[in-house]
Amino acid sequence: MAFWHICGFLFVIFACGCAYATDTCVKQSACICHFPNGTGIDLTPAASANFSVAENYYYSQAEAGAQFIMATYYYHPCYDVNMSSLINATVPSQNNSCTDPLSICRHVNTMILVNATTKMYKLDEGALNFMGRSSISTFSVDGGSIIYANGPSQTTVYLKCAETDNQLQVYSIADPRNIELAFYSRDACLKQIEASGRSLGSTLLIIFFAFVIFYLVLGICTKKFLMGATGIEVIPNLGFWSELPNLVRDGWLFMISGFKLPARASGQTVSPDPNSYDSI
Ligand SMILES: *[C@@H]1O[C@H](CO)[C@@H](O)[C@H](O)[C@H]1NC(C)=O
Ligand SMILES: *[C@@H]1O[C@H](CO)[C@@H](O)[C@H](O)[C@H]1NC(C)=O
Ligand SMILES: *[C@@H]1O[C@H](CO)[C@@H](O)[C@H](O)[C@H]1NC(C)=O
Repeated sequence: MAFWHICGFLFVIFACGCAYATDTCVKQSACICHFPNGTGIDLTPAASANFSVAENYYYSQAEAGAQFIMATYYYHPCYDVNMSSLINATVPSQNNSCTDPLSICRHVNTMILVNATTKMYKLDEGALNFMGRSSISTFSVDGGSIIYANGPSQTTVYLKCAETDNQLQVYSIADPRNIELAFYSRDACLKQIEASGRSLGSTLLIIFFAFVIFYLVLGICTKKFLMGATGIEVIPNLGFWSELPNLVRDGWLFMISGFKLPARASGQTVSPDPNSYDSI
């Protein structure tokens, strides 16, 4: 039955919504994400004037011959900066893709074996490789890393809560299409983010409305398909809801009249027994 499928679908959407709301660190800016409970990651204080630097040297027996590769990674969280004034790497301009403001750049130099007998190497001119910018970064669902898109590749920076000033480490270069760095900082710790954290009141309100929607979907499906209701009858507990405005009005009148029995307009439908107010 098609309508049952729609009910099931709505239920799945509802369940997914709940799961999403509880577990995802929602990106608020390039270096702030927060969980629904108001905690989150805020790297803002870690965005200093300088880049954090990590070095990585490795030997590679490539097809072209033995190589010794020296890579230096430069990382700056939160916003993109023009790095040419900040680091001292001179490479030929055609080898430099770090010319625009960015957050991650790699400086690579390669030593190429030119004579196996004498074990003589030659140092190349080097290159600066663009690795990512904050303006197109995303947080991982668990808030544990920031992913920087870079064409078909990406760079992952793991956020490691540590009692240190900012320190960068190369985590893994096993997959050249996803270089993994680790950023150790006391600003990478999960903490209460006041400004963005939902108050208890608004959380309760969201839970309340989620339940109202859930109640309506389930109630309408039940009444329509199990009890064969049609038209307005599909609304669950219709009698109560149609009476609710009257109940609210009565309660309001009772309050503003100083908790005295208000005069009721004639022709009203059933409502709580007015005599019950007499006892007050
Ligand atoms: C808030 O939620 C996150 C993710 O679900 C969890 O890791 C963290 O411990 C929670 N914090 C508090 C104070 O409940
Ligand atoms: C860059 O290197 C040159 C020569 O090695 C040096 O004189 C200069 O002070 C360096 N600049 C910075 C910003 O490190
Ligand atoms: C390597 O060095 C040795 C010793 O100097 C020399 O005899 C040889 O020709 C060199 N090989 C190459 C490929 O340059």
